[in-house]
Amino acid sequence: MTQTTVNSEPYFNYASKSLNTFAPRLLDWFAENGRHDLPWQQHQTDTPNPYVVWLSEVMLQQTQVTTVLPYFARFMASFPTVQDLAAADWDTVAEHWAGLGYYARARNLHKGAKQLVDVIDETGELPQTLAGWEAISGVGPSTAGAIMAMGLHRYGVICDGNVKRVLTRWAAIDGDITKSATTKELWALAERLTPKESSGLFAQAMMDMGATLCTRSKPACLLCPLQDDCLAHAQGRETEYPVKAKKQPKPSKFSNALLIKDAGGNILWLQRPDNGIWGGLWSLPLQFVEKIEGKVNSKTIDKKQVANDDKLSNVANDVCSNERVYEAEFTTAEQIINEWLMKNELVAKSVSNTLLTDAPIKHSLTHFHWYLTPKKLTIDATQATELNKRLGDAETVFKWLTEQKAQDSLGLPRAMGKIIEG
Ligand code: ADE
Ligand code: SF4
Repeated sequence: MTQTTVNSEPYFNYASKSLNTFAPRLLDWFAENGRHDLPWQQHQTDTPNPYVVWLSEVMLQQTQVTTVLPYFARFMASFPTVQDLAAADWDTVAEHWAGLGYYARARNLHKGAKQLVDVIDETGELPQTLAGWEAISGVGPSTAGAIMAMGLHRYGVICDGNVKRVLTRWAAIDGDITKSATTKELWALAERLTPKESSGLFAQAMMDMGATLCTRSKPACLLCPLQDDCLAHAQGRETEYPVKAKKQPKPSKFSNALLIKDAGGNILWLQRPDNGIWGGLWSLPLQFVEKIEGKVNSKTIDKKQVANDDKLSNVANDVCSNERVYEAEFTTAEQIINEWLMKNELVAKSVSNTLLTDAPIKHSLTHFHWYLTPKKLTIDATQATELNKRLGDAETVFKWLTEQKAQDSLGLPRAMGKIIEG
């Protein structure tokens, strides 16, 4: 390895030779060993479809290829063009997305489709520039680069998680990849390595290399076209890269999920507000009961849960007396339901409000672990009418549907499936 000198390029520990042969080596490997049959790939056509690349890249942002494949097929079958996606109602999009997680991505996708149709209406085509794509909801610099390179066959640079892993290893970059200085360094290196003429193939090749050879825990260095000058490999320190600040332990939240059933066997469903958790999806009414910072071991959970169950022998008591209830997290509809439950408890003893408790269901989200405890409550026709009136007067969005119908027709987060099946 040649050390950087005054006259050599200002990139890390590399001489021009290593930098200049990086792309040819990678592209040769890709031609022989890469994946060429993924349904969104556009490198074998002269008329690439940027819609397909945009859609697949958003789906692939935090999800693996094998998981995305069936979802992508369903999206393309239902929404073959960006106009179809933009014109679809949100529930249909959410239902297509259900199970892929990170629902903000689905909301951005739908919003992005509408923005793209606006661009087409104005200019006659999808965005043709990096800035044009970066202006679309849910499209960051790397996704925009991927669309430029793979979806338009123009020049574009990607620097996503896969690329960062490969480059930090190859160049033994010790900086924390969550820090902006390291991000800058990695983008500069990615730009230096990306060939001007075949950036689309290069992007595909980098993604494939990262996904199939330079994997997180077991890189297949012996098959790698970069092994001769890979600094991490030379030191046997592959898995020490990328360096990433230790994540704070996730906080835990405890909530009740209310299965409020009417005499006809229908359950009350609420559409969640657009911002916040599960935005725009449908959910059982929730009661946010408690939030604990940091790690919680299972013993603590059991104790807390038992304590909650005591207090929650009826919902009303809990809402009135437990100051740890997180009011701020209640939607309007949930507040109405809680107040109504409290009130009813005070007036009517004949109410059949037996609350059955089940074991909490653990659901891990990006920022916290969520323990959801299903609570069942059956109400009579008079009560249903009264509750409907209150919810309707406040213009909240709700539906009464059986579990089956809700699963078939509403966009439900995966955790809801666990609760109603459980
Ligand atoms: N990950 C992100 N984008 C990808 C793509 N186009 N092909 C394979 N894996 C990917
Ligand atoms: Fe990754 Fe190993 Fe290739 Fe280095 S040699 S880039 S660590 S697969």
